[in-house]
Amino acid sequence: MENNRRPETMERITTAALADAFIEEQVAAVRAQVGNKKVLLALSGGVDSSVVAALLIKAIGKQLVCVHVNHGLMRKNESENVVELFRNQLDANLIYVDATDRFLNLLDGVSDPEQKRKIIGKEFIEVFADEARKLEGVDFLAQGTIYPDILESIKQAEGKKAVKSHHNVGGLPEDLKFDLVEPIKLLFKDEVRVVGEALGLPHAMVYRQPFPGPGLGVRCLGAITRDRLHALREADAILREEFANAKLNETVWQYFVVVPDIKSVGVKDESRYEGWPAIIRAVNTTDAMSATIEEIPYALLHKITNRITHEVEGINRVLYDLTPKPVGTIEWE
Ligand code: XMP
Repeated sequence: MENNRRPETMERITTAALADAFIEEQVAAVRAQVGNKKVLLALSGGVDSSVVAALLIKAIGKQLVCVHVNHGLMRKNESENVVELFRNQLDANLIYVDATDRFLNLLDGVSDPEQKRKIIGKEFIEVFADEARKLEGVDFLAQGTIYPDILESIKQAEGKKAVKSHHNVGGLPEDLKFDLVEPIKLLFKDEVRVVGEALGLPHAMVYRQPFPGPGLGVRCLGAITRDRLHALREADAILREEFANAKLNETVWQYFVVVPDIKSVGVKDESRYEGWPAIIRAVNTTDAMSATIEEIPYALLHKITNRITHEVEGINRVLYDLTPKPVGTIEWE
């Protein structure tokens, strides 16, 4: 636990120069720790795992083996972008696994949110473990653990209860024993971003909004179906595009679409058209423990509504969720 505590003397990384010094120090530390051995990393494309990947590519190049598991619950083009950036631009040793069918088959008919989370978390570990077993001579596992994760585990160890079960790659099966490489475990999120930019990662990736591990799985409410998941992904892509055009992506903390498993009656081409509603949620927070609602200009809401109802098959209404946290949580599940 000792080296899991941030020293009081550790300066906050707020500038490129401080980030460069941190990177240099960690590159040396990682090289000293792993020597010429291989390191495995589950690369989700989130800020933390991406920064760890970029840092380790700098430190040990192709000794790092990245595995990107597409669980079929990613946002539109997300997996493609991870492969493009890391394999094609950063020349990473990257294994891409499309496990969509494995996940969606297991989730078929499952409507309980915590059950869905458990299935996704467990299957994620299994897919990752299957890939790890195929590789030879890997002794280390890198993780994008950051300081709030450490603080959270300390809290849990003290007996406080978590509201929702978040997952990472911890808990690999017994036959896979790795030593851990956690180069950003003493950093807060804002520092991880400064380090990411100093490593040359794109601004949009480093400042992207948080995305839950179970992905669109907890936004396609109730039992997931492929057609509703597809509608959710398309509607979410429109929301993100319009927020980016309006530069709201730079100020709003988290914004996404939720599609519940209910249909209402509508009209299209003069015929009855039953469809799902797309619910937009846009929240601001500092720590995700409480959140307020972003005031979106009406004109933009009209535009998004118009686009989603015309461009997305199966959606016939758009709603805006005005509920703060508490009483709602940020996600619907
Ligand atoms: P809630 O819904 O609990 O969300 O108010 C707070 C923040 O946590 C994210 N979230 C998750 N992240 N796995 C994750 O990695 C999860 O299962 C999960 N559930 C919620 C949520 O997106 C928000 O940023």
